[in-house]
Amino acid sequence: MGKTKSVFICQKCGAESAKWIGRCPSCGEWNSYTEEIIHKEQNSTTKIPHNYSEQTKQKPVLIEQVVATDEKRIDTSSSEFNRVLGGGLVKGSLVLIGGEPGIGKSTLVLQVALRMKGKRILYASGEESTNQIKMRSDRIQQPESECYVVSETSLEQIFVHIKNTQPDIVIVDSIQTISTETIDSSPGSITQVRECAIALLRFAKETGIPVILIGHINKDGNIAGPKVLEHIVDTVLQFEGDRHYMYRILRANKNRFGSTDELAIFEMNNYGLREVVNPSELLLSHAQEALSGIAVSAAIEGVRPFLIEVQALVSTAAYGTPQRSSTGFDTRRLNMLLAVIEKRAGFKLAQKDVFINIAGGLKVNDPCIDLSILAAVLSSNLDIAIEKSTCMAGEVGLSGEIRPISRIEQRIKEAEKLGFNKIIIPEYNFKQLTRKETTIEIVNVKRIEDAFRNLFG
Ligand code: TYD
Ligand code: MG
Repeated sequence: MGKTKSVFICQKCGAESAKWIGRCPSCGEWNSYTEEIIHKEQNSTTKIPHNYSEQTKQKPVLIEQVVATDEKRIDTSSSEFNRVLGGGLVKGSLVLIGGEPGIGKSTLVLQVALRMKGKRILYASGEESTNQIKMRSDRIQQPESECYVVSETSLEQIFVHIKNTQPDIVIVDSIQTISTETIDSSPGSITQVRECAIALLRFAKETGIPVILIGHINKDGNIAGPKVLEHIVDTVLQFEGDRHYMYRILRANKNRFGSTDELAIFEMNNYGLREVVNPSELLLSHAQEALSGIAVSAAIEGVRPFLIEVQALVSTAAYGTPQRSSTGFDTRRLNMLLAVIEKRAGFKLAQKDVFINIAGGLKVNDPCIDLSILAAVLSSNLDIAIEKSTCMAGEVGLSGEIRPISRIEQRIKEAEKLGFNKIIIPEYNFKQLTRKETTIEIVNVKRIEDAFRNLFG
């Protein structure tokens, strides 16, 4: 029988303490310490043995002498999923997929699992019964792989199932529901999550079998049991989007085997998730005539350019305090931009309600969208529609200047490809352009006034 030890652990950052403390000295969080009982053999391996020179199995090698072998990757038969992983699932890697409840994490991994022809997969779910998984798989598609499912919450049992099925890939849904017998604390607590993740990591590295973990996200948008888990795994993929819209974005937040700029878009329909290969076509509305309050932005999310429609509605405030609300765009930044047009371009919006919506429920981080937000707001305010074939990109500064943006050539190319006739870009970017003869008219602007003059005459 091993010793039982009780420690207090910060549920946010994983710091340990012998007694309860109100505020974590390590991450500054209040009231985050809970008592957890650690019940295991005295960990003698962590002590440095006296005869350590004889204990090592590995020998340090000069870096020039290390023979680099390309990581072997498994094709997941989903081109978008492969891309976000950096070109496929690396053998022996531990991948974490995080996302809010109901966003479609289980659907995504099950779909990938079912499509992997010729592969044997073990899907261990601590959340759903095999019956529920079967019902879900019936909605998605006929399995092409050899996919074994089991409803299991014990880590030790999962290892037994792995031994019995000999899978090529292991999926655990979710890390917060499984627990190991070596620790007494409840599933989902930070020690359980950490211990289970470490055990699965060790398994993946020793056998070369990749393990995909699903992780929950808490209210602040962090993966529960957060930083500790992110440090352990090789890759963290974030699955996001608004549950009420169809689009879901999968992005890499951390990737030891690839770029974190990659992103994939999926559409949730009745038969699972469909890969969206050309996002621009979906994000632009197909209305025949031009409508006021709509501006198209040539944005880049991750590494891919796409054109996004920004919609604005400006109306006279019915109550004393005007409302400012936006979906998919930071409201504080919206307020700032509105202040800029009040001050620099002389439009009076103080008594108006302003609503902003980014089509498709996307959240756009690219600052180039500023210009189209302002253009949409003015278009709605003046009730003058912007030409349907015009798009724009530019960050707006506090003094009303249009600031340069990254990768302009890529944006122009995408706009050209989709048949736009005119693109408005910052002057600085225009000067840097190497390719000046384009089929699309390029308008360069220095200040927001220049852009508005071009758009609204
Ligand atoms: P799910 O994968 O269970 O989410 P998570 O594992 O992230 O909690 O997906 C839940 C939602 O997806 C649910 O509201 C139903 C919807 N859905 C579809 O719209 N179509 C489908 O084919 C499937 C399987 C699910
Ligand atoms: Mg799920």
